[in-house]
Amino acid sequence: MLTRNKPYHLLSAHDLSREDLSDIGERSRYYRERVRTRAIPQMLVGRIVATLFFQPSTRTRLSFEAATQRLGGTCVGFSDPNVTKAGGEWRESMADTARVLNGYADAVVIRHNEVGAVDLHAQESAIPVINGGDGRGIRAEHPTQALIDLLSMEDDFGAIDGLKILIVGHVNQRCVHSLLIFLTKFLDVSVFLLTDDDEHLSDAEERELRSHGLTFQYVAALEDAIRRVDVIYVIGTKSPCEVAGKLVLRPEILQRSAPHVRIYHPLPRGIELPTEVDASRKAAYFRQVANGVPVRMAILERLLNGSHQGL
Ligand code: CP
Repeated sequence: MLTRNKPYHLLSAHDLSREDLSDIGERSRYYRERVRTRAIPQMLVGRIVATLFFQPSTRTRLSFEAATQRLGGTCVGFSDPNVTKAGGEWRESMADTARVLNGYADAVVIRHNEVGAVDLHAQESAIPVINGGDGRGIRAEHPTQALIDLLSMEDDFGAIDGLKILIVGHVNQRCVHSLLIFLTKFLDVSVFLLTDDDEHLSDAEERELRSHGLTFQYVAALEDAIRRVDVIYVIGTKSPCEVAGKLVLRPEILQRSAPHVRIYHPLPRGIELPTEVDASRKAAYFRQVANGVPVRMAILERLLNGSHQGL
């Protein structure tokens, strides 16, 4: 993977073809089974993965670190830039930070509050860079989260082609952007978006998605949309406690969905996904979050050790 200029980064969902997605899915299932049986090939012995987290994270950072260590590698990094020279009064540039990391690690995972910061780092990086989520709003992406989402849906439905997917919440978020880009690579996927009026995708993104053949429409009410879909993908809003009522997946509304429906959420959740829903057999989000480690094992292996290195 992923970009065609060496070294091979994973910066955007655009970096992966449908073939890449199949390969990552296959490798992720392989690693999931190997973790289960405690028979994990030690592909990353002697390798160091740096995790540079300029924003808080539970799942992305810890699952990348777990994935590295499961494969026999080790990690360095930070979860608070203010205890390093990358933050605080210094705010060392991403370019200089990249030049430093070139001598310290074999790959780097970055989360940043600014769109484009991970790309800036990658421009000066001699080692693979993975976008662990950058910014908010237009062009923000979180491609590894979307890979986890795809694997989880494939587990439940056998394929992504043909799925009807309702995305509920503030859709102008990085994980949604990456997921929508990936969905353009599949056939006959229909997307329904239920969001606040001021949270629509940008015109440019809508044009781009449509030009790549994705069918999507905005819907007004959960009650109606929920009857028409296979997948309910719930996402948070700007604040975990401030969610418009129409974006909350209440159990009584969920009852109107078909029996085969599955619910996903990248987590952490706010009040949009009440804990009462957890007892439903439709709730897939804790299986989804467990896929974080095998998916990230597959990505690290592919970038650092895989047959695709040097493509
Ligand atoms: N889903 C996700 O990216 O979670 P974190 O913010 O905890 O990494």
